Amino acid sequence: MSTIETARKSTNAIPVNIDKAIESYDVESDVILNEHFKTIASHLWQQIENYGADINEYGGIVSKHLQRTSSIGAEFIKTLGFSERAAQNFYEANLLQDLGKTHPNYNPEIWQTPHRPTTAEREEKRAHTRLGVELVSQALIKSPETLKTHPHIHVIQSLQRHHHERIDGTGYEGFAGDDLGVIIKVICIIDAYDGDMIHRPHQPAERTPEEALQRLKNGPKYQGAFDEAILEQFIDFTLS
Ligand SMILES: [Fe+2]
Ligand SMILES: [Fe+2]
Repeated sequence: MSTIETARKSTNAIPVNIDKAIESYDVESDVILNEHFKTIASHLWQQIENYGADINEYGGIVSKHLQRTSSIGAEFIKTLGFSERAAQNFYEANLLQDLGKTHPNYNPEIWQTPHRPTTAEREEKRAHTRLGVELVSQALIKSPETLKTHPHIHVIQSLQRHHHERIDGTGYEGFAGDDLGVIIKVICIIDAYDGDMIHRPHQPAERTPEEALQRLKNGPKYQGAFDEAILEQFIDFTLS
């Protein structure tokens, strides 16, 4: 079985809507997480930070993207009515969102190609959502059931798998509309927003926040992609 097929099999049970799950625990004080997951999470984080250090500092670019999307998302979801602890849970879980980019089968140079990505390169990039889920499952192999079934693990794996969805169903996994839940709709917007401001070799210049927001709202690439009401709120939140 190929790595991608294995990843596909292991991701079937992950919820797409995590709006309730993210309110159901407190990552800071949770006994199971503190006892069994803290160390695993910090190893996985180090794996992201150090990835590609000898090639192109790719891990540094990814880890900063994850810190930014975590902070922005945590602040933003509070304005949508989520609690302080949901915001903290979001912050921690989203730090592992792009973990799949550090999978041994993943090419660290794929996001830095001097040209626009080809169809084959785009397909390879897409695999990181499922490979991230697989890396977390692998890291938990010897963990107790109470951790494997903990809502924080569902939240992490759902953010990993679904942060490239589009509400019209054209995203990586093809889930659409309200199946996504608010948290997933939010991370899809913020991930695209931050990703579009990362300078890539094939782009002439960095984008400003205003340019990135304009692109999310009116750019041809994103027509029908996002929940319009949430996008409007995110634009107001960012510009205020
Ligand atoms: Fe991603
Ligand atoms: Fe991302």
